[in-house]
Amino acid sequence: GIKVFNKIADFRQWRRSLLLEQKTLGYVPTMGALHQGHLALVTAAKKHCDHVALTVFVNPAQFAPTEDLSTYPRTLQSDLEKLASLGPGVASAVLVPQVHEMYPSGIELDVSKQKGTFVEVLGLSQQLEGTTRPNFFRGVATVVSKFLNIVQPEHAFFGQKDIQQCFVIRDMIRDLHIPTKMHICPTVREGNGLALSSRNVFLCPSQKKYALVLSQSLKHMESLYRSGTRDASTLLQAGIHLIENARKQVQENEEWELKLDYVSINSAKDLNEIKGDIPKEDGCVISMAVYVGKTRLIDNICLDVE
Ligand code: PAJ
Repeated sequence: GIKVFNKIADFRQWRRSLLLEQKTLGYVPTMGALHQGHLALVTAAKKHCDHVALTVFVNPAQFAPTEDLSTYPRTLQSDLEKLASLGPGVASAVLVPQVHEMYPSGIELDVSKQKGTFVEVLGLSQQLEGTTRPNFFRGVATVVSKFLNIVQPEHAFFGQKDIQQCFVIRDMIRDLHIPTKMHICPTVREGNGLALSSRNVFLCPSQKKYALVLSQSLKHMESLYRSGTRDASTLLQAGIHLIENARKQVQENEEWELKLDYVSINSAKDLNEIKGDIPKEDGCVISMAVYVGKTRLIDNICLDVE
């Protein structure tokens, strides 16, 4: 069966045994509440590697005091069942460490009081998601670097769903000379287009319906792009128009609100914002965040990226 470790030292011992057997290890970092998006990463990892390990850790350092750390879904038993359902030997091990072991210096939600070692990827962390969540990528880069040191995988697998996170971790791996090859896997969606997310459980049925505006507006912008619209602000206006319509419908019919946080077109080279015509050579990322009631959802598409 799947080995479940709570202590880092026990995990490391298992990891060493793989090295001695000359087996390769693929790694999938998660915060649990697993869904088909996570499972697709595990399946991809198993294609590349002899063994697959996951971590399940709701990382306090990437939550702001106002965010949903305390209510973030924690469903370890059903997570392990989902992993087992992939078949015997697909997921080999899961590390579920405790907060105090991951953060020996302690962890404060108030950043000004934090102690200890943190990893910051400058130039990629303050735009887009970083505008609303200024310390988010510091928390992500810190915990992923800790886990890469613990797990020491040959390969690590991430979802395009969190595209800016992929950029941050790609640069971190390069800058810190971490000997792990990173893989980015496509976003897994429901049949209707809604990107799978652990936070979708917070949506009531009508919110789930209106949440389709993210993927639908992205698809609309993509089709305009494919039919020749190259001006970034023209594309954005078309997307914003659909989101604004959804906002009004929600306002008229529901008790909650739908609110656009941002929608942006950025270079797939460096995530810098594109204004004016989109250069075809670099490729671009259209990304957005929308509040559906209290739940903040993100989605993105990449255009002309290899
Ligand atoms: P979490 O949100 O649990 O996501 C874990 C991994 O699953 C990430 O690489 C994420 O991009 C990927 N993922 C989520 N939804 C997906 C979908 N619909 N399709 C494909 N992949 C999807 O991202 C985190 O956790 C954390 O920030 C973490 C990297 C674990 C650091 O704490």
